[in-house]
Amino acid sequence: MTTSIYCEPGSSDGFPGTAEPAYAVPETALLPALLADHPEAQLVVLGPGVPLAEAVLFTNRQRVERPALGVVLLRDTVEVDMLAEAMRAGIREVVAAGDTAAVDAACARSLELSRRLNPAPPAAGAQVITVFAGKGGVGKSTVATNLAVTLAGGGRRRVCLVDLDLQFGDVGIMLQLPPDRGLADAVAMAGRLDEDGVRSLITPYRSGIDALLAPAGPAEGDQVGRELVTELLGVLQPMYDYIVVDTPPYVSDQVLAALDRTDWFALVVTPDLPALKSARLTLTTFEMLQYPAERRLVVLNRADSEVGLTAADVEKALGQPAAVLMPSSRDVPLSVNRGVPLAVERPAHPVARAMAELAARCGARDDDPVRRPLARLFGRRR
Ligand SMILES: Nc1ncnc2c1ncn2[C@@H]1O[C@H](COP(=O)(O)OP(=O)(O)O)[C@@H](O)[C@H]1O
Ligand SMILES: [Mg+2]
Repeated sequence: MTTSIYCEPGSSDGFPGTAEPAYAVPETALLPALLADHPEAQLVVLGPGVPLAEAVLFTNRQRVERPALGVVLLRDTVEVDMLAEAMRAGIREVVAAGDTAAVDAACARSLELSRRLNPAPPAAGAQVITVFAGKGGVGKSTVATNLAVTLAGGGRRRVCLVDLDLQFGDVGIMLQLPPDRGLADAVAMAGRLDEDGVRSLITPYRSGIDALLAPAGPAEGDQVGRELVTELLGVLQPMYDYIVVDTPPYVSDQVLAALDRTDWFALVVTPDLPALKSARLTLTTFEMLQYPAERRLVVLNRADSEVGLTAADVEKALGQPAAVLMPSSRDVPLSVNRGVPLAVERPAHPVARAMAELAARCGARDDDPVRRPLARLFGRRR
């Protein structure tokens, strides 16, 4: 199903085409949140009451964030000079609002184009989300743990949280898990890892969530090589719906192995110059490695801290809009010290809600059907 959205400020007139859109909103400011909730949406129709400048701004932003999303602009009268500006912004078509057939045809063409532009559905198996920042202390592990909890949706999806911060991994502490198994034990199985082997490394956390913990000490971390990480992820992928990878504050060999298998790059940044500088370098690296732009999700953590840099400053410096703004809250360190992620205990907390937005951007939806492990369906487990 394709979801389409119609936006017409303060008007009681309905959508002028024949195909009724799934949602109608009275102002463009409401569109980003609605779109975040509907990653499947492929068409936004802007009504004749939306000022051209607003339409251009909105479409420009979508071009970076969601290149496959189509924007069709309706005008009471179509003027040639506005056409050029609209096309430059990436608006697909400008149509006279009174011409029902033309509105329908434009929507159909745009939906068809989106269908062709959309990335193919991921191959069976987990989508990999790597949480990265070229700097420590910006909130990677906070994001990784809370995102994993959110993605699991109380057990509706299967999530594996992999701690690739092999020297100083915090996932075990943040989730209060016993350090008696983890990645270090994979070393002995290198080259012949299978599902049963991987299961022996995993620490179950709660419904739907397993963790693959970092080694207890830095020395053991050195043993886990790049090939082993690739092998591990390959075995994990058919077992889960999502794999969330927490990382150290630098691109190690192991991180590169994960990045190469990553579907969504969650780049965490805080509104301060050092973090911003490393985030820019990271984005440049991602570009060099040709990781697709629409798969890079900037998480602006502590977005509300009043330290001189606004969200807009950060977005401008990065040349990319933030996918999610996460507020600063003393509840975060409190939750870390108690070993229970905020998303577990307080899903309505603004920090947890930011993680829900991020999960939605990675395709996890509230009405996702319950999925069962394939292995079990096919009776592979004895
Ligand atoms: N939004 C936030 N509000 C308040 N404190 C935060 C927030 N995000 C992270 N922190 C705190 O910052 C510190 C570093 O976070 P962490 O997730 O461990 O960063 P990283 O994994 O990038 O090193 C922790 O003490 C954590 O509690
Ligand atoms: Mg960390």
